[in-house]
Amino acid sequence: MATSPKSPKSPERATSRAEAPPAPAPAPAITPLSAEAQTAAGILPASHWTAQPLPEEDPGNDTASTIGSFTSTTASLASSIYQYRTIQGRTYHGEMGNAESWWPNDKRHIDAMEILHHALVLQTDGKLYLSPLEKNKVHKVLDIATGSGLWSIDFADEFPNAEVIGTDVSPIQPTWVPPNVKFELDDCNSEWTWPDNTFDFVNMRFLGGIVDDWYALFQNAYRVCKPGGWVESSGSSESFFSHDGTLKEGSAIDQWGKVFQQGGKKLGRTFGIYEADIQRKGMEAAGFVDIQYRDIEVPVGVWHPDKKAAERGLWYKLAIEADVEGYINYLWNVVLGWTPEEAKVFARHVKREWNDPNIHSYFILRVAWGRKPE
Ligand SMILES: C[S@@+](CC[C@H](N)C(=O)[O-])C[C@H]1O[C@@H](n2cnc3c(N)ncnc32)[C@H](O)[C@@H]1O
Repeated sequence: MATSPKSPKSPERATSRAEAPPAPAPAPAITPLSAEAQTAAGILPASHWTAQPLPEEDPGNDTASTIGSFTSTTASLASSIYQYRTIQGRTYHGEMGNAESWWPNDKRHIDAMEILHHALVLQTDGKLYLSPLEKNKVHKVLDIATGSGLWSIDFADEFPNAEVIGTDVSPIQPTWVPPNVKFELDDCNSEWTWPDNTFDFVNMRFLGGIVDDWYALFQNAYRVCKPGGWVESSGSSESFFSHDGTLKEGSAIDQWGKVFQQGGKKLGRTFGIYEADIQRKGMEAAGFVDIQYRDIEVPVGVWHPDKKAAERGLWYKLAIEADVEGYINYLWNVVLGWTPEEAKVFARHVKREWNDPNIHSYFILRVAWGRKPE
């Protein structure tokens, strides 16, 4: 059942209202992949990276340590949902049934998610959605796994007559929001409790690695969508590509893709949304019609000769650089069994490559949308 833990009175995020640290929820018990399985998947051992000279560290980038960056929590709201689990010094959501998110929910990662919102909106030329919405017909909107909540907030500003509900397993969204936005705690893999035909628009952006069953997800979206309403899903490839062979096998960027690929398999929640063509298949199977999608090449870094593409790459780079360690912490620890120090060394190598203008890599962002028949 969805719950709304927010007080509309405080301008601060829920995470900053702490008085005393709560008891931590247990970390997930997942056995890392064996060394043989890692080798078979083309994943290089941690020693490969620790044996190489380290690239210069950008001092401005490392001041936000991965350890202990989250100290204030909402202990005063004595509830298990605020008893965040800790993995290698980073915090994750509290107990929410079977929910198991790889996204840290500490301040450093929320900041990174806010930059990511801007980076993602830039990929679609500043548009929050690509569905052909008619402004006067959008009254109720659902934003699944809202993260920083910025998409919901921006959408609510653009559609002041619509009520926007953003859901997440972490109560990290701001409380100082437009009056037509509210945030609810909800696990998108659990039963959806909204009645049939409730929403004019269901937005599901960047759900890689968190969805147990994409077919069930789109079925749920179909059920709660009003006839004539739209669903939109933005998801990425798990692999990186280059048109000119400058992305080499065994590079840190290549390895990043491989670990996410294995992580998705291990957790049973894929990151390869684009590779699996799961948005189109899921929407079709659920009954959506007029399905369309746009595949966007997102440059990794600022190498692209086209100024607009380079700007898109720059913002994505900034979003990742804001917390590389947070993006890799869960998988590199839980799936590979690496220590934080080993993961940190890898992070420095990947940052160097992300800033190398000679590596012309990109990934694919697919935005797909479909309509529920009248
Ligand atoms: C998946 S991303 C979403 C980002 C956001 N939709 C955007 O595009 O800016 C990160 C969020 O997903 C949330 N999340 C992870 N697993 C979830 C689940 N099972 N149900 C709902 N939210 C989940 C995390 O807590 C995190 O805040």
